[in-house]
Amino acid sequence: MNHSPLLEKAIQLLDTESLHIPVLDLACGSGRNGLYLVNHNIPVVFADIKPSALEQVKTTLANHNAEVKPSINFWQIDFEQTQITPLEGKSFSAIIVFRYLHRALFDQIKQAVTDGGYVIYETFTVDQPEFGRPNNPNYLLQHGELAEIFSEWEIIHSFEGVIDANNESGKQAIAQIIARKPK
Ligand SMILES: C[S@@+](CC[C@H](N)C(=O)[O-])C[C@H]1O[C@@H](n2cnc3c(N)ncnc32)[C@H](O)[C@@H]1O
Repeated sequence: MNHSPLLEKAIQLLDTESLHIPVLDLACGSGRNGLYLVNHNIPVVFADIKPSALEQVKTTLANHNAEVKPSINFWQIDFEQTQITPLEGKSFSAIIVFRYLHRALFDQIKQAVTDGGYVIYETFTVDQPEFGRPNNPNYLLQHGELAEIFSEWEIIHSFEGVIDANNESGKQAIAQIIARKPK
């Protein structure tokens, strides 16, 4: 699966900002988005609950003949544990989150992005059940929710709407944000 076009809007920001501190691909799955950053020589931490997802990323990287390889790390973690705050004390130049929502993480995400760093978030909205899964409200953003959560950050890009998709209905309802944490 290809990376999200949203990352192409952010790549120049990340190229200049993330030379030393890695980007976190939170709930990375196959790593399609973090791998796009790796291809741009940006260091990435791939994080997911599923060891099989991280193995898939490793296999893709092993088959990848890049001349320059940035620093890459893997983190097998359950972000929804209630006893711990997994992002506390960590620092990333950006956190990217695609197709994943666990609202209790938002405060940690905001803290773990370094000052002047970025959040790049894209997931489904409450309009999605019209077009397919997911339909659990816990996994669906309310209208304006991302912009509200990051209202104290500089909003570089914000979008909500229905886009073409490679699924049965041919459509999906998503929200996107690129926002910069104040320095
Ligand atoms: C729909 S996939 C999206 C994967 C990737 N971000 C993408 O857009 O291709 C959701 C991912 O979230 C991961 N996930 C679900 N619950 C999780 C949790 N509690 N902690 C960490 N990762 C989780 C799943 O293993 C899966 O890889």
